[in-house]
Amino acid sequence: MEYTTLGSTGMEVSRLCLGCMSFGDPDWREWMLDDDAAHDIIDRAIDLGVNFFDTANMYSTGESERVLGDALEGRHEENVVATKVFFQMDEDDPNSSGLSRKTIEQELDASLDRLGMDTVDLYQIHRWDYDTPIEGTLRALDDAVRRGKTRYVGGSSMWVHQFADALHTSDRLGLDRFATMQNHYNLVYREEEREMLPYCEKEGIGVIPWSPMARGYLTRPHEDVGATARGENEEYLYEHPYMQGGGPEINRRVQELADEYDVTMAQIALAWILDKDAVDAPIIGTTSIDHLEQAVEALDIDLVESDAAWLEEPYEPVPVSGHE
Ligand SMILES: NC(=O)c1ccc[n+]([C@@H]2O[C@H](COP(=O)([O-])OP(=O)(O)OC[C@H]3O[C@@H](n4cnc5c(N)ncnc54)[C@H](OP(=O)(O)O)[C@@H]3O)[C@@H](O)[C@H]2O)c1
Repeated sequence: MEYTTLGSTGMEVSRLCLGCMSFGDPDWREWMLDDDAAHDIIDRAIDLGVNFFDTANMYSTGESERVLGDALEGRHEENVVATKVFFQMDEDDPNSSGLSRKTIEQELDASLDRLGMDTVDLYQIHRWDYDTPIEGTLRALDDAVRRGKTRYVGGSSMWVHQFADALHTSDRLGLDRFATMQNHYNLVYREEEREMLPYCEKEGIGVIPWSPMARGYLTRPHEDVGATARGENEEYLYEHPYMQGGGPEINRRVQELADEYDVTMAQIALAWILDKDAVDAPIIGTTSIDHLEQAVEALDIDLVESDAAWLEEPYEPVPVSGHE
C-alpha cells in the first residue's frame, strides 16, 4: 500500500479509501452487503494496508456506520474513519437533516454511537445547506473539534464559491477550516478540473473523490452497464452525464487500454485518477474481495502520459452532477 498525507492535516492515509456505502441493510438498496460479507471486505482491506474508511449517517440509515464500527472494533485507533451529515435520517424528524447546530450535534453523537467511537477522524458536510448560514454550521463544527468529537472537518460536493466562502469565513472567525473535499470526479465526469481541484491545491485541501469508477460505468463495456445488481437498479446511471458527450467513447478507450496493459477496465480508471496530482485518495466502492484486490494492484500501474491524454481526449463538458 502507498500512503499520503491528507491535505494539510498531517494525517497519513492509504492512497485508496474504502467507501462503505455498500455495507448495511439489503432492504435499503438491493446491492448492500450484510454484516458478515462487509466484515470480510473490511478485514481484507486492512490486510492490504487500507487504513482509510468513508461512510455517512444516511447510508442504510445508520447501518453502514454500525457495520463499519463493529468491523473495526479494537482497531479504531490505527484507522482513519470519515463520516458525513446532511441528509434526512428520520422522515418524522425535520431536524434530522441539514446543517444546523441542533442537527450537527445530535447527528454527530448518533454517528459516534453507531461507530462505537468517542472521536471520529473526519466529519464532513455531505451537501450545502441553503437554509442555514455557513457561519453557524462552521461554529458548530469547530465546537465539535474543541469537544474532541471529531479531529478534522471536511466538505463534499458543492460549488467552488460556496467552498471558498466557507474557508474565508473560518479564517475570518478563527474557526477550524475544512481540511478535505469529497467531490465527484472520474474519467467521464471531469467538471471539477475547472475550478474545484485547482482551488483545493492552492488551499492545501485533501481531495478524496467519490465514484472514481463512475459507479461501475468504467468497469465494464458501455453496453453492459445494466449487467450487475447495482447497474440494473441505478436508473440514474442511464440518464447520467457519464453517457453524454464523450462518455461512450471514453468507455471504449478504457477497454482498449485495459487489453493493451493486460489489466481490467476498473484498474485503468483507477490508475488514471491515482495519477492526478490534486487527488489524495479516491474513495472506491466494492462488494467483492477480488475487485478490492484489483484496486490495490492498480497502484502499481504506470499509465504512460500519452495514454492518459488519449483517454481524456473525447471528454466533452457535461451538466454538473452531484450537487445543486
Ligand atoms: N459524498 C458523496 O456525495 C458521495 C456520493 C457517492 C459515493 N460516495 C462515497 O464514494 C464511495 C464509492 O462510490 P461508488 O460505489 O459510487 O464508486 P465507484 O468506486 O466508482 O463504483 C463502484 C462500482 O464499481 C464496481 N466495481 C469496482 N471495482 C470493480 C472491478 N474491479 N470490476 C468490476 N466492477 C467493479 C462495483 O461493483 P462490485 O460491488 O461488484 O465491486 C460498484 O458497483 C461510496 O462508498 C461512498 O463512500 C460519496
